[in-house]
Amino acid sequence: MKILNTPYSVIYFGEDSYIKKKNLFLKNVSKKILLVDNISKKNCLNYFLSKIDFLKKYYIINLPSGEENKNIETCKVIWKKLLDINADRKSLFFNLGGGVITDLGGFACSVFKRGLNFINIPTTLLGMIDASIGGKTAINFLSLKNEIGLFNFPKGVIIDNNFLKTLSENDLKSGFAEIIKYGLISDINLWKKIKNLILKKKKLIYSYNLIRNAIKIKNSIIEKDPLEKGLRKILNFGHTIGHAIESYFIYNLNKKISHGHSLAIGMICESWISYKMKMITKKEFEEINMIISLLYDNIKIYNSHISKIIDFMKHDKKNENNKIKFSLLKKIGYSIFNKEVDLFLIKKSFKKTNMINLINFNKF
Ligand SMILES: NC(=O)c1ccc[n+]([C@@H]2O[C@H](COP(=O)([O-])OP(=O)(O)OC[C@H]3O[C@@H](n4cnc5c(N)ncnc54)[C@H](O)[C@@H]3O)[C@@H](O)[C@H]2O)c1
Ligand SMILES: [Zn+2]
Repeated sequence: MKILNTPYSVIYFGEDSYIKKKNLFLKNVSKKILLVDNISKKNCLNYFLSKIDFLKKYYIINLPSGEENKNIETCKVIWKKLLDINADRKSLFFNLGGGVITDLGGFACSVFKRGLNFINIPTTLLGMIDASIGGKTAINFLSLKNEIGLFNFPKGVIIDNNFLKTLSENDLKSGFAEIIKYGLISDINLWKKIKNLILKKKKLIYSYNLIRNAIKIKNSIIEKDPLEKGLRKILNFGHTIGHAIESYFIYNLNKKISHGHSLAIGMICESWISYKMKMITKKEFEEINMIISLLYDNIKIYNSHISKIIDFMKHDKKNENNKIKFSLLKKIGYSIFNKEVDLFLIKKSFKKTNMINLINFNKF
């Protein structure tokens, strides 16, 4: 077991963490509640229970999987169950699942009786390197992603990459987009490694080293700015456009596009904007565009839909005084935040990425 101590929670790596950190699960704990979705239940629950057989008694809450279920209705299911079992302030919540479960479970138990403790056991790559570790919890509301939420750090996080064995290629690639982001915003050597892997068409291997490296990058940023007053905003690189595309696909087209897939597109668009705003070079943009689009499928967007996607950006949490604010690249491996971007550039960026096939796209 390796340990990464952060000021807010401790992160344990490896399958021996369960038994070695038995106390984390048991000490001063009254009721134990496990939150899963139907897919993490199928793929991860038995294994998890076999590792924590010392727990004896626990309650399971099983929710339908998927981003569309990260909402107030599923929170109500959780709160009702907590009331039914008479959960008190010493109850402990285990979020066993991907980012949807850790975001939703983290939020639901943080506001129940003004806060129950929780432990995250992320079962997707995205959950391990991002969603489960930064203290952000949230649900979606009225078609807006993560609109209702709060900062609250888990009591502990257990990273066990055995869970990745059952994860689909699509979900692995989704998580990998966040690793690409870490390279682009703050670690040029990581970007170079990624570039090599993709160019040589090497199988991506999700070792503890790679995962720990990614977590360390995120943590080093959060330590300086846990509540996203400034620097932490750089973690949103690619997300202003990415989130808008993700929301638009779910809520307007009723189609799912993974978080990482939309982030990959967002990163290319926002790299182009960085280039046009004279921060990165044309060569750097072209490299980013080429490398990322080798790994992810193209999507189709209709001309008439672009304004709807931009409407989603108007609700981005980084905005100030109704202005859309971006985190952009100053160079590869270094980023800045709070950059206001002209609407014309945002629209045009959709045309510049290899990953979007524009249909009936009018020239600007
Ligand atoms: N809080 C944060 O800081 C933060 C950061 C990044 C993303 N997020 C949120 O995370 C969510 C995306 O996370 P995600 O990609 O993990 O989504 P997810 O939780 O929907 O998981 C993706 C799919 O994989 C399934 N799954 C989970 N574990 C599995 C396993 N071991 N084997 C097979 N299938 C498994 C899930 O049931 C789901 O169908 C979004 O809601 C996003 O907003 C939050
Ligand atoms: Zn993300």
